[in-house]
Amino acid sequence: MGILKMRILGLLLIGISIIGCVNGDENESFKKPPTIVKMVKGTKMCVKDWECNKLSKFCCNLTITDYLDTDQFELLFAKRNSPVAHAVGFWDYRSFILAAALYQPLGFGTTGGKKMQMKEIAAFLGHVGSKTSCGYGVATGGPLAWGLCYNKEMSPSQDYCDDYFKLTYPCTPGAQYYGRGALPIYWNYNYGAIGEALKLNLLDHPEYIEQNATMAFQAAIWRWMNPMKKGQPSAHDAFVGNWKPTKNDTLSKRFPGFGTTMNILYGDSVCSQGDIDAMNNIISHYQYYLDLMGVGREEAGPHEVLTCGDQKAFNPTAAPAAAS
Ligand SMILES: *[C@@H]1O[C@H](CO)[C@@H](O)[C@H](O)[C@H]1NC(C)=O
Ligand SMILES: *[C@@H]1O[C@H](CO)[C@@H](O)[C@H](O)[C@H]1NC(C)=O
Ligand SMILES: *[C@@H]1O[C@H](CO)[C@@H](O)[C@H](O)[C@H]1NC(C)=O
Ligand SMILES: *[C@@H]1O[C@H](CO)[C@@H](O)[C@H](O)[C@H]1NC(C)=O
Repeated sequence: MGILKMRILGLLLIGISIIGCVNGDENESFKKPPTIVKMVKGTKMCVKDWECNKLSKFCCNLTITDYLDTDQFELLFAKRNSPVAHAVGFWDYRSFILAAALYQPLGFGTTGGKKMQMKEIAAFLGHVGSKTSCGYGVATGGPLAWGLCYNKEMSPSQDYCDDYFKLTYPCTPGAQYYGRGALPIYWNYNYGAIGEALKLNLLDHPEYIEQNATMAFQAAIWRWMNPMKKGQPSAHDAFVGNWKPTKNDTLSKRFPGFGTTMNILYGDSVCSQGDIDAMNNIISHYQYYLDLMGVGREEAGPHEVLTCGDQKAFNPTAAPAAAS
């Protein structure tokens, strides 16, 4: 009896695996290499294709191309290649995914379940869309359809060279450190710090960021994934809930969620000022992308999580140590 049962089970298993093979081979050009799974100290870790190619628990989950495809990207940034846009042909889906591949093994767009993953990408792109938009008031398609319209500051009034950092990040003669990128970078010390992190010589060549969309997205995702200062959360950690607020944070109305990502990235230029346009514009882009991605803006959460008008800044501008 026992042997017979095992035989039947064996046949069944072979049957299933044959069906699996046939399905997998149906379209060779779409086939991704199989995920490699390893158990490390009781934690399931994976390596996927090029998009998530470091052994990591995050690579066991969906990756960004599983839930955001090129057509959706076109929908989110529908007007970026219209003739009146200012970076026609520059930004594309491919460069976003190539840049994201560096950070997906670290949890960018791969943390939590599918809904949290999609929300994080909508949140990140919400910041990007609002910072690179040229959609004002009566723009066709509505003001929110114009994200990724710029890749640089158009008429910089200065070179953004701060001599205070002449020992750590000295300005290169002739280089201009005006705003460039997906979450625009300004000042020699920011180009220097991001260049150091990404192993790109941005201090000598800040122009890379307006010439190469993959680098521009890499720099923006690096900013999202790293705190502005030691001891503070990154926008990523604040958004996905890795960050646990202290009592001081709670008293300062800083809760895990989208509102706090604005506090981290922009401080009191956007937050602590009540219901101002600068804040609402960023929130509107986030909600617009949530809708277009099919998540729905109602998933953005309650007012105190979504906004930062009542929050105290992590790094108030009045404080002398606030560098960025
Ligand atoms: C396989 O995928 C390609 C997309 O690269 C598509 O053009 C083609 O029609 C697909 N073939 C089948 C049989 O699904
Ligand atoms: C992977 O996804 C599952 C839900 O699908 C989630 O519970 C888990 O936390 C995710 N893993 C990581 C490392 O975030
Ligand atoms: C753009 O930057 C990426 C990432 O650093 C690099 O792999 C790629 O070769 C660059 N593209 C060009 C055209 O220089
Ligand atoms: C509490 O928060 C305020 C405002 O954000 C900050 O100035 C202060 O240094 C914080 N105190 C501690 C003990 O972290």
